[in-house]
Amino acid sequence: MQDKANKRHILVTMALPYANGPIHLGHILEATQTDIWVRFQRLKGEDCVYVCADDTHGTAIMLRAENEGISPETLIARVQEEHERDYEKFNIGFSQFHSTHSPENKRLVQAIYLKLKENGHISRRTISQLFDPEKKLFLADRFIKGTCPKCKTPDQYGDNCENCNATYSPADLIDPRSTLSGATPVERESEHHFFKLPEFTQMLKSWTRSGTLQEQVANKLNEWLESGLQEWDISRDAPYFGFEIPEAPGKYFYVWLDAPVGYMASFEKFCAKSDYNFDDYWRPGSNTELYHFIGKDIVNFHTLFWPAVLESAGYRTPNGVFVHGFVTINGQKMSKSRGTFINAEDYLAHLDPEYLRYYFAAKLSSAVDDLDLNLDDFVARVNSDLVGKVVNIASRCAGFINKGFAGKLAQHNSEPALIAEFQAAKDEVAALYEAREYSKAMRLIMSLADKANQYIADKAPWVIAKTDKQSSEVQEICSTGLNLFRMLIVYLKPVIPTMAQSVETFLAVPPLAWDSVDSTLNGHTIGAFVPLITRIDPADVTAMMEAVTASQASALTQSAPVATEPVDSALAKEPICEEIQFPDFAKVDMRIARIINAEHVQGADKLLRITLDLGLDAQGEPTIRNVFSGIKSAYDPATLVNRLTVVVANLAPRKMKFGMSEGMVLAAGPGGSDIFLLEPDNGAQPGMRVM
Ligand code: MSP
Ligand code: ZN
Repeated sequence: MQDKANKRHILVTMALPYANGPIHLGHILEATQTDIWVRFQRLKGEDCVYVCADDTHGTAIMLRAENEGISPETLIARVQEEHERDYEKFNIGFSQFHSTHSPENKRLVQAIYLKLKENGHISRRTISQLFDPEKKLFLADRFIKGTCPKCKTPDQYGDNCENCNATYSPADLIDPRSTLSGATPVERESEHHFFKLPEFTQMLKSWTRSGTLQEQVANKLNEWLESGLQEWDISRDAPYFGFEIPEAPGKYFYVWLDAPVGYMASFEKFCAKSDYNFDDYWRPGSNTELYHFIGKDIVNFHTLFWPAVLESAGYRTPNGVFVHGFVTINGQKMSKSRGTFINAEDYLAHLDPEYLRYYFAAKLSSAVDDLDLNLDDFVARVNSDLVGKVVNIASRCAGFINKGFAGKLAQHNSEPALIAEFQAAKDEVAALYEAREYSKAMRLIMSLADKANQYIADKAPWVIAKTDKQSSEVQEICSTGLNLFRMLIVYLKPVIPTMAQSVETFLAVPPLAWDSVDSTLNGHTIGAFVPLITRIDPADVTAMMEAVTASQASALTQSAPVATEPVDSALAKEPICEEIQFPDFAKVDMRIARIINAEHVQGADKLLRITLDLGLDAQGEPTIRNVFSGIKSAYDPATLVNRLTVVVANLAPRKMKFGMSEGMVLAAGPGGSDIFLLEPDNGAQPGMRVM
């Protein structure tokens, strides 16, 4: 990395992953987005520090440790090791990875709290909450279930009904139960500490107007500000795994108060091992820059509470909070019960991390949109771009240079205009990286790669080499090709750092920097060609998904861990119906069918109209049926087409409000987005009888 005058001093964070679960591809999206930005800054010669930590506090972690029969400290130490290992394999270039359960964080959050209190921004009052008399702890809404007070659907969570969407307070539930012990919760009073957020309304208004939030995020924030802010409850009662509030025995800081302070704690830890100065980055008016990368579910914590807390405690506020959307897998949200919950470890067991870094880059924009990892598209995109376009340039040129010219590049480039065009793209690529418009950057880089390939194809050095292996023309064409390749690698280096490193070895050059594109290699001797990246074998993707499905299926049959996956416990509660005799069962004619069309039904909020192909009849004519199925809440109709499913074929047609339903497709699940169409193995054929 070169040293430049007037460089920017930037501190970057990404959200701290919870220590109660493994790193999954959603975390990897965030880490990749952040890491690309950081690597780009460093490549340009800016001073960019990147910190993160594990978010270790809260009830869920306490209960999980209890379940495993270990201390929370042992649990979080083990998880941190796993998290750091996963991020490292994805080449995430942290300056520091720390923990919120650290001395630095404890000291900082306590000092911040005392500052807030001194400034009159803390209030205290007694509130009444539901308490589990068996477990002896206060219950957060998600630990309470009961019957919806409005529509009377049983088994609904503490704050809203999945069936009728009503929102309410857990105390309104009919027949409430603690999901931890099954006991009936009782109301109990306790004193809580609140942060007086409403006093920061003006401050937050001007902070948003400083123009550093994405439009969508700024609009949301304005909505919150318009509808009026509430005081924020920052305390929790013992037992709680966290830090005790000074001068308030038995009261702990709510995990979301100390979590963002973890950004500061991690940076402080970094300062201790380097010559960076903590205050340079956190005092108001500092000329350093501070950016937070986060997902769309935690915007309120980072754009309301956090800037207000910083302001009150006498620190600087962030220059930007960059929000990304969620990863979906083949159009579906990541879910264990769907077998679409891919952990970093699952991916790493089958595929090269740089494939995914590239794919995410190729799809990321600066907007808050969700990002779909479509596995077929993933294979096609990576193979066509990275292997087919980029690596192809090097593999077509290197052999001629190494065999015919002992690795020595020509003194001249044969196509200066093309070299100049590649160089001229530098500022545009830089601006796109800076603005987090990575997909646009990748498109631009790939269009340059197309031009390089076209150039080589036009010049066809292999034709010339057939008659004269030592032709200076061959040397110049291939040298030009390798120079173009080198520039593409500079542009791609933030995205695929490992491959860039192999290229540096192959070209026998020192680490490439952003300004390396200003010059070309002439008369330089390169090294032997090293394999850079191989095509993705789709079989590896299939193997990964099979492993994921298998491990999640087995996890679902084991006893469900506390406080995760509401779906599983709901499933277990459906009682088996009354016994029937075999002849009763034999009357039901179930067949394999292929969905040939699926669409929304105007005016129906639960139903999809599904057209099924039940195979050929005795006359060789296809049997086509239309059915209405109440699976709209779980499926986008477009994703259903071409799937196989099971249908009750001899159910008497029923006239429904929207038309005739001629059969019934089989699905399972408690409802809402958790309904799962039964899908036979792909060997099955439409028309086959289900036995
Ligand atoms: N611990 C809090 C963050 C504290 S920051 C001071 C937390 N942890 S998390 O593990 O649930 O999520 C960490 C980050 O991953 C968040 O930014 C979250 O939005 C992001 N993602 C979690 N699931 C995701 C996807 N499926 N897709 C993309 N990002 C998602 O929230
Ligand atoms: Zn309801």
